[in-house]
Amino acid sequence: MSSRTVIRGGLVVTASDELHADVLIEDGRVAALAATGTPAAEAFTAERVIDASGKYVIPGGVDGHTHMEMPFGGTYAADTFETGTRAAAWGGTTTIVDFAIQSVGHSLRSGLDAWHAKAEGNCAIDYAFHMIVSDVNEKTLKEMDLLVEEGVTSFKQFMAYPGVFYSDDGQILRAMQRAAENGGLIMMHAENGIAIDVLVEQALARGETDPRFHGEVRKALLEAEATHRAIRLAQVAGAPLYVVHVSATEAVAELTRARDEGLPVFGETCPQYLFLSTDNLAEPGFEGAKYVCSTPLRPREHQASLWRGLRTNDLQVVSTDHCPFCFSGQKELGRGDFSKIPNGMPGVENRMDLLHQAVVDGHISRRRWIEIACATPARMFGLYPKKGTIAPGADADIVVYDPHAEQVISAETHHMNVDYSAYEGRRITGRVETVLSRGEPVVTEREYTGRTGHGVYTPRATCQYLN
Ligand code: URP
Ligand code: ZN
Ligand code: ZN
Ligand code: ZN
Repeated sequence: MSSRTVIRGGLVVTASDELHADVLIEDGRVAALAATGTPAAEAFTAERVIDASGKYVIPGGVDGHTHMEMPFGGTYAADTFETGTRAAAWGGTTTIVDFAIQSVGHSLRSGLDAWHAKAEGNCAIDYAFHMIVSDVNEKTLKEMDLLVEEGVTSFKQFMAYPGVFYSDDGQILRAMQRAAENGGLIMMHAENGIAIDVLVEQALARGETDPRFHGEVRKALLEAEATHRAIRLAQVAGAPLYVVHVSATEAVAELTRARDEGLPVFGETCPQYLFLSTDNLAEPGFEGAKYVCSTPLRPREHQASLWRGLRTNDLQVVSTDHCPFCFSGQKELGRGDFSKIPNGMPGVENRMDLLHQAVVDGHISRRRWIEIACATPARMFGLYPKKGTIAPGADADIVVYDPHAEQVISAETHHMNVDYSAYEGRRITGRVETVLSRGEPVVTEREYTGRTGHGVYTPRATCQYLN
């Protein structure tokens, strides 16, 4: 039996168009769009009608960077796939790409299997995986080919965290050469971790133990240096490169230079770098620990470079790097030693709203909002046009967004499994009203109507942003 929904009277916003249109959904996919009020639109009939007049009708968000249940610093990120994907849906995100982890001495396969086991049957929205490569060897390189074939088409490497996820330049070059052959996309955590560890040791020896020193030792210059090195290694390998969580003006400059040379180099930033700063890291009474993540928050001046990069397309994507640790019991592991604070911040629920606020504030256009948060991440990670747009044949992952509603972000009202909000008290104009995942209502007029296990694993094509 076919099931049909029509969303009537809203302003449909995609990365390329804005159109007052009715959207017909049939069997979980977009069947047709027609301009509101025309005979074609009036001919749409359905069992369920959603009135979107005065609202935006936008593609569900695609968050290309999350860490549900990630082991880090002797503890685990506090959101499970169940709680984290539910919170994502509340915030208008309908697809996440999470990072499966290869541990040193183990295969990519065993890491990927472990992530499938965590996610399967537990997600409220659709999900896919990148693979963190921590141990580059002959076997790993062969496994990369197999993973690309089965839909895990991107691989994260770390120039930071020696002894944990770190790869040296030779290992990075080998993985990039492999990716150049098999079509995979290398994602880089670009910070010079060897140098940073020296600065950490020296800071602690001077008695500099507060969270704010996390920001001081992880220098912008060491992000820029690693970004430059990653770009040139990728150029030598003939591979495209995607730099994750770009935070510093100097790192954006490296990306801009490479792109002006015509290299296939891409950059992602995250809401925390656009909206927060070292002022937060310096909050007294160990509160700064809430904002410890890597790359670190930067002085406020860096924000302008990130906004400019998003406007000039030297940065293409905003993901969250959602990796929540509770203040109580988890962030507290680093009292008296900032290097023991688990790295990561919550945000999967807040991204679409914060970026809508950026539209209201004039940083980006409405269509650019959808491009950086939905369409480009879908294309970058091989999910387009199934995800990231509203067009005939696409999955009906759709958000009805009220651009006039006012809300205040708070841990009291959010749905992430973490005891604080990084954006506590922040006023946002705009709010998610209704969310469909493959046509099923996950949020209905601010009520949760989703189901654990509705979300399915979604294998990916190779990067579509290169074509
Ligand atoms: O601090 C962060 N970003 N934690 C998550 C792991 C990573 O490096 O992305
Ligand atoms: Zn990282
Ligand atoms: Zn440029
Ligand atoms: Zn991350």
